[in-house]
Amino acid sequence: MYAPERVITNEDLATMVETSDEWIVQRTGIKTRRRVAENEYASDLAMHAVHDMLRAHPDVDARSIDFIIVSSTTPDYVYPSIAALVQDRMGIPTSCGAIDISAACAGFCAAMNLGAALIASDQARNVLLIASEALTRSVDYTDRSTCVLFGDGAAAMLLVRDERSALAGMDSGSDGSAGPSLYRTATRRDIAGIVDESGLLRQVGRDVYRWVLENIPLAVDRILDRAGMSLDEIDWFIPHSANMRMIEALCKRVDFPLDRTLTSMVEYGNTSAVSIPLALIPAVRSGTIKSGDKILMIGFGGGLVSAGAVLTWM
Ligand code: ACO
Repeated sequence: MYAPERVITNEDLATMVETSDEWIVQRTGIKTRRRVAENEYASDLAMHAVHDMLRAHPDVDARSIDFIIVSSTTPDYVYPSIAALVQDRMGIPTSCGAIDISAACAGFCAAMNLGAALIASDQARNVLLIASEALTRSVDYTDRSTCVLFGDGAAAMLLVRDERSALAGMDSGSDGSAGPSLYRTATRRDIAGIVDESGLLRQVGRDVYRWVLENIPLAVDRILDRAGMSLDEIDWFIPHSANMRMIEALCKRVDFPLDRTLTSMVEYGNTSAVSIPLALIPAVRSGTIKSGDKILMIGFGGGLVSAGAVLTWM
């Protein structure tokens, strides 16, 4: 995992827009977030995360990677993809597949589920998953309802073929009708009758909040159903770290204890696709997550879409 060096505190934001540490902490739980340097892009964050993964697992030969999937809503370019940039910078053979996906905050789980399907269908053996976001490049620092929320970071994970199955209950969902509650315009500058020339992130926070509490408990049920498991077999819950208050409400609805729910937003803010691995990796490294533990992960966001699964940590 990797997060840029520059830390943005709630006090820093209070000098830019009318807000306060008290409001941000009470409504979201966020205390700090990171921001990329002027010359730092999502591909650079991705490379840092891959190097961190390889340092932690010196037995991995990067040349054995035969597919790269990157989830990002803030890629350096529309094309070439971050995945292709990583293939080149890592010196991975050109027989490697490389794609970027757009699934916003569901992106890490969506990439993981896709990677597992590539392995199961014999299209790949070693799939490098990366979530990388230079989200602060898409944030409007005059809009207090969004600029306090988002931060930058990256994470990498290698999925390898193994006769033991680490993933179960892979599930995806979408509700395009709720798209206008969280969007960034691109080649088209209007959505649902709103013209937005800015190309910056826009969110109707209250609508997304309500959508999450209505839809994500149903997605959790689907994941458990597909995995053939019950909630009491789950050791850890890692929902997308958008907002602490929302996660507390979600845990109540799902009926899962908050003290076995892992988050990353207090330190890193909402890092979109990166938020789940930013909660997972430190917990693995500190020994909180142990071999054999079952982790229910679910991402959700722009689309609106969701993706999740139960991961058994090997
Ligand atoms: N500081 C002070 N006041 C603020 C701020 C701020 N930073 N932001 C908004 N306010 C004010 C508003 O202007 C409003 O004032 P008013 O009542 O006088 O009009 C009041 O606070 C309440 O605003 P709401 O937007 O209704 O605040 P809410 O309690 O809903 O919190 C939040 C906003 C934190 C965004 C919340 O709605 C949320 O977390 N929603 C879910 C976000 C999410 O999960 N997104 C999905 C993933 S992100 C992705 O996919 C990229």
